[in-house]
Amino acid sequence: MKTIAFTNQKGGVGKTTSTVNVGAGLCRQGNKVLMVDLDPQANLTYSLRKSSNRLDNSIYDVLKGRVDPEEAIISHNGFDIMPSSIDLSGAEMEFANEPARETILKNSLNGFYEKYDYILIDCPPNLGLLTLNAFTAVNEIFIVLQSEYLALHGLSKLMDVIQVVKERLNPEIEITGIICTLFDGRKNLNNEVVDHIKDYFGNKVFDTLIRDNVALAEAPSHHKTIFEYAPDSYGAEDYDALAQEIKNGQG
Ligand SMILES: Nc1ncnc2c1ncn2[C@@H]1O[C@H](COP(=O)(O)OP(=O)(O)OP(=O)(O)O)[C@@H](O)[C@H]1O
Ligand SMILES: [Mg+2]
Repeated sequence: MKTIAFTNQKGGVGKTTSTVNVGAGLCRQGNKVLMVDLDPQANLTYSLRKSSNRLDNSIYDVLKGRVDPEEAIISHNGFDIMPSSIDLSGAEMEFANEPARETILKNSLNGFYEKYDYILIDCPPNLGLLTLNAFTAVNEIFIVLQSEYLALHGLSKLMDVIQVVKERLNPEIEITGIICTLFDGRKNLNNEVVDHIKDYFGNKVFDTLIRDNVALAEAPSHHKTIFEYAPDSYGAEDYDALAQEIKNGQG
């Protein structure tokens, strides 16, 4: 069983796209997968489910202790999702004074760790309490980076936070994978940036680069994974290869 947080406090780098499609790829390879949407924007949730379909329960209700975690789970073609909701946007403030506020998610997921081969958490684009909860609930962190100028900008802050979590909350935590997204091999700059990322992170960088592919941007509006929406696209090819690499324990 593996528990992985997909993170970067920078917005729009491909965290949600990677969580969904790595998860779907692992599911296609026969694994039992749970995706946890820990972002109040709820992009993961609504990229797989129509927003007009009201959800009974979300991760917010689970963290509040209002419902059992099982009651919030929804299924999508073979894998499970713990959905988010806009209610979660107040959570940082609401939970700020709770004792053990960083371990609320870990405690909520306790009954799930043995049920799945992979639990993947889609983090919000900040280093607040929700992200701390993610880092406390998992053993592995994948940092998602856009293969563009300033990809590594601000990363030292993220590394500091991971170090603090490791010392105080979760000694198990390790950065085990770096995913380079939105890669365009025709641009010299993209190649230079990936070389730079490899200088910094060495063999933690996955060999599979996720190319810039319009089908990946279109699939969410159809509430589909890339494998459902465009199985012959570069996007499907890349996320299938990445899921394979993750399963084989590289990176
Ligand atoms: N490889 C790709 N090719 C083309 N478009 C992509 C690719 N990856 C992601 N996108 C698009 O880029 C945008 C940002 O991606 P995504 O939502 O996955 O980033 P994020 O890091 O989760 O953002 P946020 O920080 O807001 O949560 C989305 O519109 C998505 O569809
Ligand atoms: Mg996102």
